[in-house]
Amino acid sequence: DNAIKKSSPLFGKKVLVTAGPTYEAIDPVRFIGNHSSGKMGFALADELARLGADVTLIAGPTTQKATQNLKRIDVVSAQQMYDACLSVFPETDITVMCAAVADYRPKQVATQKIKKQQSDLVLELEKTTDILASLGSAKKAHQILVGFALETNDEENYAKSKLEKKNLDLVVLNSLNDKGAGFRSDTNKITIFNKALERSVFEMKAKADVAKDICSAILKIAK
Ligand code: CTP
Ligand code: CA
Repeated sequence: DNAIKKSSPLFGKKVLVTAGPTYEAIDPVRFIGNHSSGKMGFALADELARLGADVTLIAGPTTQKATQNLKRIDVVSAQQMYDACLSVFPETDITVMCAAVADYRPKQVATQKIKKQQSDLVLELEKTTDILASLGSAKKAHQILVGFALETNDEENYAKSKLEKKNLDLVVLNSLNDKGAGFRSDTNKITIFNKALERSVFEMKAKADVAKDICSAILKIAK
C-alpha cells in the first residue's frame, strides 16, 4: 500500500485548491454571491488527492463533499478566502484557483437588516483583493500556479492576458458560450493555455474527466 502511494505521480506534493463561490455580506440576512456550485473545484481536489498529493481544499459556501482524504477549510467571503490562501500558499508546490471569487463587496455591511424604503436602494461596492494575482506575485520558481478564466466574449485573448498578468503557469478557460459548460452543470468544456501560450482544446465531458485533463496538464509541467 505504501509502495503504491510512493509511486503515485504527485506523492509528497503539497497542493492547494480553491472551490465554490464567495458570499459578500450586505446585512445580516443578505449577500452578493454567484452561481458557482463548487463541482469543478471539488472534482479537481479529489483527482489531485487520488494522484497522491497532500491536498488542502479551501471552499466557499457549497453543498459539495470531497470523496478523497484531504484537508478542507471552509470560508465565506473573498477576504476569508484570501487570508486562508495566504497562510497555506508558502508551503505549496501546486495551487489551483478554481473558486469564483467575488470581484466586489459592499463597502459598508449593515449591522441590522436593511429596511425597505419608499426610494430605491443604492449599494456602494468596493473591490476585493485578487487572490490569484497576489499569489502570482509571491510565487517562487518551484511553485506551479493554475488559474481559471470565465469568459463570455473574446475569450481566448482574455484568458491569455490573465495568464500573463497574474504570472500563471496554466490558465483554464471556461467558456460560458458552450452549452453544458460552466456553473451548476455536471459537464464542462475547457481550453488550457500554458506559459508558451500553446493551446489545448478539450471536448465537453464530465467534470471528473475534465479534472483528469487539467491534472495531466499539471503533471506535464511538474518536476
Ligand atoms: N480570482 C481571485 N481573486 C479574485 C478574483 C478572481 O483569485 N478576487 C481568480 C479566480 O479564482 C480565477 C481567476 O482569478 O482563477 C480569474 O477569475 P475571473 O473572474 O475569470 O477573472 P478576473 O481577473 O476576476 O477578471 P473579470 O472577472 O473582470 O473577467
Ligand atoms: Ca472576476
